[in-house]
Amino acid sequence: PLTITVDGLAKLLGVQNSHLMRKMANIGMDKLANDYLLTNEEAAEIALEYEVVPIIPDSTGPELYPRKIPEDMSVHPLRPPVVTIMGHVDHGKTTLLDTLRNSSITAGEAGGITQHIGAFSVQLKSGQAITFLDTPGHAAFSAMRARGANATDIVVLVVAADDGVMPQTKEAIQHALDADVPIIVAINKCDKHGVDPSRIKDELLKYGIQTEDLGGDIQAVEISALKGTGVEELSESIVTLAEILDLRAEVDIPAQGTVIESQIERGRGNVASVLIKRGTLKVGDIIVAGTAWCKVRSMADDRGNSVKEAGPASAVEIMGWKEIPKAGDMVLQAENEGQAKSVVDSRVEKRKNKDKLAAVAAMNVQRRETH
Ligand code: GTP
Ligand code: MG
Repeated sequence: PLTITVDGLAKLLGVQNSHLMRKMANIGMDKLANDYLLTNEEAAEIALEYEVVPIIPDSTGPELYPRKIPEDMSVHPLRPPVVTIMGHVDHGKTTLLDTLRNSSITAGEAGGITQHIGAFSVQLKSGQAITFLDTPGHAAFSAMRARGANATDIVVLVVAADDGVMPQTKEAIQHALDADVPIIVAINKCDKHGVDPSRIKDELLKYGIQTEDLGGDIQAVEISALKGTGVEELSESIVTLAEILDLRAEVDIPAQGTVIESQIERGRGNVASVLIKRGTLKVGDIIVAGTAWCKVRSMADDRGNSVKEAGPASAVEIMGWKEIPKAGDMVLQAENEGQAKSVVDSRVEKRKNKDKLAAVAAMNVQRRETH
């Protein structure tokens, strides 16, 4: 049944229509009109983006919802920040990620092979940890990057000093601003002759990025991802910002997270990398993501080490999925297999209904156009 317009939902949530529509676009909805009637499922999905837990009165079956965020987070422990690196093609994102990843491999592990799981954790000398999401850099992945921005606490915007602000730099700024994610600027390739980092700061000002030098509160660090200079300073800037953000999470609740990657692997079956956002996931737990569920058979970290539990802001590779979950799907823990199965069944059913509605809507449009 159709229940609420885009306009109505924006009023209900107390947000601007344009902001709501940007959120909708970010999660892949394209019915971007004020008077568009949303289905219950669509409205619920958008509400969740605002961390509002919707109650669907006529839900057709069992569903799992994230726990309410407690009002007083100060009693919960601090957690590492989750950081996404964004920027224009060839500005040095991959090089920076490699430098960060290598800097995190301690002597004892030097021979260890790092696994690509879409995220990795860096341990600083101070003992603090940072989780980096390793998102793809090409324009074709912009939808996924939009999701990345939502799963992330901090965006590191890489701008090459010899190239300046380019289309995907602007796009990254927009994603970060839309998702209300704070930015740290990394002015890269500062090892090159004749480059002027202050020119980049002036340029960024035009796009609403006011760095500290220019009286703003956005940190900018001059680095060479290739040579490794300034990279430690960048990590320190991230930690400083994380402290200001006071990032905390409940540890002793059922796990909640996001699928960052998934694939079928020979000999290992369906494998998904999951970023845990709240709670702790343990081997043997039952989780649901979209229309896939999993009894966690085993978990591995970014070094390929097997782990028994994963807490807030850690990324793990999870084995044991009955079906392959989709990147971007929310992961929620179920109480038991029975609950997981019935939630999946009801989601499959809801999806069928949604598809039917979409087919009817498309037919109506066609009919209108031919008349
Ligand atoms: P896409 O994934 O294609 O978007 O590119 P990217 O942003 O990941 O850039 P990548 O790290 O692949 O770097 C592109 C080129 O710039 C490579 O040839 C790097 O060696 C070079 N590069 C990256 N960082 C630096 C740097 O700090 N200094 C210099 N001189 N070159 C760099
Ligand atoms: Mg790259």
